[in-house]
Amino acid sequence: MSTKPIRVGVVGFGYWGPNLVRNLDKLGDAELVAACDLSDGNLAKLKGLYPYVETTNDLASLLADFDLDAVVVATSAPSHFAIAKQVIEAGKHCYIEKPMTLKSSESETLVRMADEAGVHLMVGHLMEYHTAINWIRDYIASGELGDVLYLYMQRLNLGKVRAEENAFWSLAPHDVSIALYVLGEAPDFVSARGEDYLRDGVHDVVFANLHFPSGKMANIHVSWLDPHKTRKLTIVGTKKMLVFDDMQATEKIWIYDKGVEPKEAMAYGEDLTLRFGDITVPHIKMQEPLALEVQHFLDCCESGDVPRSDGRDGLRVVRVLEAVDESMEAGGAPVSTTVGV
Ligand SMILES: NC(=O)c1ccc[n+]([C@@H]2O[C@H](COP(=O)([O-])OP(=O)(O)OC[C@H]3O[C@@H](n4cnc5c(N)ncnc54)[C@H](O)[C@@H]3O)[C@@H](O)[C@H]2O)c1
Repeated sequence: MSTKPIRVGVVGFGYWGPNLVRNLDKLGDAELVAACDLSDGNLAKLKGLYPYVETTNDLASLLADFDLDAVVVATSAPSHFAIAKQVIEAGKHCYIEKPMTLKSSESETLVRMADEAGVHLMVGHLMEYHTAINWIRDYIASGELGDVLYLYMQRLNLGKVRAEENAFWSLAPHDVSIALYVLGEAPDFVSARGEDYLRDGVHDVVFANLHFPSGKMANIHVSWLDPHKTRKLTIVGTKKMLVFDDMQATEKIWIYDKGVEPKEAMAYGEDLTLRFGDITVPHIKMQEPLALEVQHFLDCCESGDVPRSDGRDGLRVVRVLEAVDESMEAGGAPVSTTVGV
């Protein structure tokens, strides 16, 4: 490994940008060189915390004047495509916050451009770096859960009602990326129903069903109109069942040794046999997912390895988000999620 730190620039220092900057600043492999934001107030805040970082309102200047290796984009989603395009055209590795873009055609363009330019494109699918989610992925791979049959996720709360994007685009990029990551495959179609109870034309409650080529199913329920703050994932396997509750400070994962005996094991005339075994709560040492994610980006810039949540992963998630909108418009009809690259 070279000892030369990766020279990083940041675009966007609003709500989430400061968390990325905090991590970039403390990781030795990065040198946080310059930041760009349209807001002078936000740049002044950054300068107050990190006086040695250069600031500008002009993206072209950020890309031309500071000899950067990589750029981290944490602006609001509608600006992602145009900014990432400029970053890749300038030959810099590019990290974009989720959702990668607002259209899958734009994500496809970015994937192709990054391939041609030979730069990394990584998307901020934070949950793919969450210690508990990786523990679950390994647990599934170990076979302990048996074959995964289906999973469902709930991301619910009362409030933070947005006008510019619906609840699925706002909340579900994390859940979609978790489903694809833990199941290790991309869905072939989705069907979804939603309603706009609070603001005309903006779905605030959505139930989306993802179908996978292997026959597995994932259901995602998101809502801004619910009595409980919930962030839960339940996975049902042929041997065991698992619940991940991200609202718990500790004891986030519960494994239930429960199931139904397989049909082949039943004698003629017997009913299905239910099994109720132990419940176990594994101890998992948590680390900040964002620190792991930022470190992974830097490691890939350094090593040339393809990032876990690369542009293709970002594209697959955007295509699911887009297809959910299309399905809701078509009254819940199944919509293909196939992508072009
Ligand atoms: N991974 C997570 O858990 C997580 C959490 C929150 C937000 N996010 C993502 O982070 C991104 C930013 O969200 P936010 O809540 O911080 O938004 P925000 O609106 O609070 O901040 C965006 C910042 O970008 C600046 N900006 C906008 N357009 C710009 C442009 N063209 N050039 C330069 N600066 C520009 C704005 O002035 C603002 O300072 C979004 O993609 C969001 O989905 C991710």
